[in-house]
Amino acid sequence: MKGLSNKSQTYRSADEETRKTRARYDRVAWLYDAEEYLVERLLFARWRRGLWEQVPLGHGLEIGVGTGKNLSYYPTGSRVTAVDFSPRMLEREKRHVQRLGAQVDLALMDAQHLDYPDATFDWAVATFVFCSVPDPIKGLRELARVVKPDGRIFLLEHMRSGTPLIGPVMDVLNPIAVRLNGANINRRTMKNVNLAGLEVLSVDDLSPGGIFKLISARSGWGGSAGKR
Ligand SMILES: C[S@@+](CC[C@H](N)C(=O)[O-])C[C@H]1O[C@@H](n2cnc3c(N)ncnc32)[C@H](O)[C@@H]1O
Repeated sequence: MKGLSNKSQTYRSADEETRKTRARYDRVAWLYDAEEYLVERLLFARWRRGLWEQVPLGHGLEIGVGTGKNLSYYPTGSRVTAVDFSPRMLEREKRHVQRLGAQVDLALMDAQHLDYPDATFDWAVATFVFCSVPDPIKGLRELARVVKPDGRIFLLEHMRSGTPLIGPVMDVLNPIAVRLNGANINRRTMKNVNLAGLEVLSVDDLSPGGIFKLISARSGWGGSAGKR
């Protein structure tokens, strides 16, 4: 883009990527639960249970809540705020909340720009989200910012395999995956978590090839913006 500084170009392309990703999720929202039905029953439900068993009480944030697949696992007695940047996904989540009669504060919001003060939440959860957040490091930093320094962050994510055979295949197939459902299959999420400054407490490898992981972390920023 002629005449613009590098900084402006970066912002423009990140905004454009965000717009495209949101539009993709809006498009697939109606099909999302059906598409995931089998894998949810065979694998994801068990992994979600494993994550939510570790979540403490208190005020929590779920980002990229989607159609509300985690809703039935929320800890009883917790106050939960749930956000997503796709209006259509959030609409389905809203219906789900109403059906279950659950108490959840819903908000349309981009994980890269969370509209909450520093250290608002006791915990935060994201499941299968950072494969599609356009700037994952920015999103992870935001997550760390809004969680209290001694609070916990749980991520259930798929990522690029570190094995020499599978990783490169995922790189080749990634553009097709993004086009089909908006999710990157070759994100280096462990590296991104470290680059964002989170303090990793544990990592559970859930599948062969190191593709699915459950990460438990602390915000690692000590509660003052100057520390990062
Ligand atoms: C693969 S779906 C996962 C939904 C849900 N977490 C689950 O476990 O089924 C990814 C979700 O993240 C949301 N998402 C992606 N990027 C986001 C962002 N920057 N801010 C907020 N939500 C985002 C999408 O709209 C979508 O609902």
